[in-house]
Amino acid sequence: MTAQLDHCTPLGPELTRRGLDLALAGTTDVAPSTMRVPLSYYSDDKLTDIEQSTILRRTPIAVLASVQISNVHDYVVRQVMEDSLLITRDRDGRAHVFLNYCRHRGAMPACGAGNARRFTCPYHAWVYDNTGKLKGVPGKAGFDDVDLDSYGLVELPTEERHGWIWAVLTTGAQMDLDAHLGPMNMELAQWNYGAFQYHDEKMLNSEVNWKGALEAFAEGYHFPFVHGKSVIGQNTIANTHVYDEFGRHHRIGFPFKWITDLDGTEAGGDMWEPSAQMGLIYWIYPNLILANSPVGVEVIDILPDGAAGKCTVRHSWMARYPATTDEQREMYDGIFAQVHAAVRDEDFAMLPQCSQGARRGQHDHMVLGRNEIGVQHMVRVLADALGISLA
Ligand code: FES
Ligand SMILES: [Fe+2]
Repeated sequence: MTAQLDHCTPLGPELTRRGLDLALAGTTDVAPSTMRVPLSYYSDDKLTDIEQSTILRRTPIAVLASVQISNVHDYVVRQVMEDSLLITRDRDGRAHVFLNYCRHRGAMPACGAGNARRFTCPYHAWVYDNTGKLKGVPGKAGFDDVDLDSYGLVELPTEERHGWIWAVLTTGAQMDLDAHLGPMNMELAQWNYGAFQYHDEKMLNSEVNWKGALEAFAEGYHFPFVHGKSVIGQNTIANTHVYDEFGRHHRIGFPFKWITDLDGTEAGGDMWEPSAQMGLIYWIYPNLILANSPVGVEVIDILPDGAAGKCTVRHSWMARYPATTDEQREMYDGIFAQVHAAVRDEDFAMLPQCSQGARRGQHDHMVLGRNEIGVQHMVRVLADALGISLA
């Protein structure tokens, strides 16, 4: 096994070289030692509340791909944990994220997705524009001692960058994306996700802890056993990780079997582009996985669903090269159907077992191998944010 590198390799032929070297040597980047994780890390409902209040509602999270509201006046309503969010693009092109709750008595002014300048609350027809301003109140005389200008939708701290709309789910909280992304800022900029084509989205609820679910995307140790019959298992070299940390975030390259064809060739050109030779999977702390293939990216966000043993998974796919014909679109449909089936029927068929093991097992810890270096990083970063000490 090779030693863990203490620097990040930028996207480029040198990264491909590392994948090729590992593939030829039949080895992987590894952590300095194994790690023990108490079962309560995955099973304690009290911890889920703390995760929400100290991490998930305090940290910028990518709530929408920019291309999902690419035109002015586009909007999307989506549920993020218990919150209904209304995400809009105003006439100046600026993105907003609002709590989708009417300031009168709390009904939801918007639903679904589309293109609209105004939203009318279904209960008493208060009207808001897509910058959140209250624009109309039927029977206004009934509110003549209220300053209606101060009854706009509540807006969350928001910034749009690298093809994503980021928000902090607490009004008035600080939004500091430079601090949040750190060295991942430059890395994400290179992908140009804002020019990808949004393709589809599927939701699933699973009986597994959200952190445990994220961990399934941080190691290739399980690939031949869980994904042996699908493209993931068939295309990748098992248990081989080209691993780099970007502050709290990480990137893992999972070399494809054909990477060894590069042996003896001169580094450079399209064939040496890392995404042609490896599945490049990012963990963007705390809840987002970006799994890049040569033709697109799977976007997987995973959040707790009210209990330690339940999570919500949103799985979508974006094409790197936008489809211009029906044929291409059909091909992309096929790719997404295939990768979604792998996530749903392979990873998330397996994961609830781990959740039961964490709840009902009478051993006291799980053990993470040196080869599970990305999982170790996830646990270390999240435990640190939660103030949990790992033995
Ligand atoms: S609750 Fe929205 S108008 Fe009354
Ligand atoms: Fe998997």
